[in-house]
Amino acid sequence: TEKQEAVIGVVTASDRASAGVYEDISGPAIAAYFEKVLTTPFRIERRLIPDGFESVRDTLIELADNFGCDLVVTTGGTGPSPRDLTPEATLAAAPRELPGFGELMRKVSLAQTPTAILSRQLAAHRGKCLVINLPGKPAAIELCLDAVMPAVPYCLDLIG
Ligand code: MTE
Repeated sequence: TEKQEAVIGVVTASDRASAGVYEDISGPAIAAYFEKVLTTPFRIERRLIPDGFESVRDTLIELADNFGCDLVVTTGGTGPSPRDLTPEATLAAAPRELPGFGELMRKVSLAQTPTAILSRQLAAHRGKCLVINLPGKPAAIELCLDAVMPAVPYCLDLIG
């Protein structure tokens, strides 16, 4: 039987981008990253949603359970301001954290900017779906994904 095409979720959590105050650069950058690096067939499910616990949690659950995503990458909402709730929402949807992802992404980001210490980004899984948080800054996308992608296929094998 033919292997089913992978579905990758890309979620931008941003009050301002979702309200049209500015354009979402990071979501399309994540999609472009996968177009560039992946050689196997896949399709992207994109979401542009407001910050917040429920909006992010419910979007992650929908992508994992209804769209069968193997991988969901979020961008935004990882900082310390009150509306930054992406890590909490991620753990509500995907309770089992993989702390090495957050550790490594902050490490590579710190080499670029000292404010990387402010990101609470993490990765966790909901059954066979791995969720990876990225900061909202477009400059963080390729840097963080390059750092963790070497471990992602094996991780998906192990949780799948
Ligand atoms: N990581 C990288 N690689 N590049 C960045 O510019 N910005 C930091 C940090 N991580 C940054 C980064 C800043 S200023 C903040 S506040 C946090 O990510 C959280 O950003 P977020 O709330 O958009 O997720």
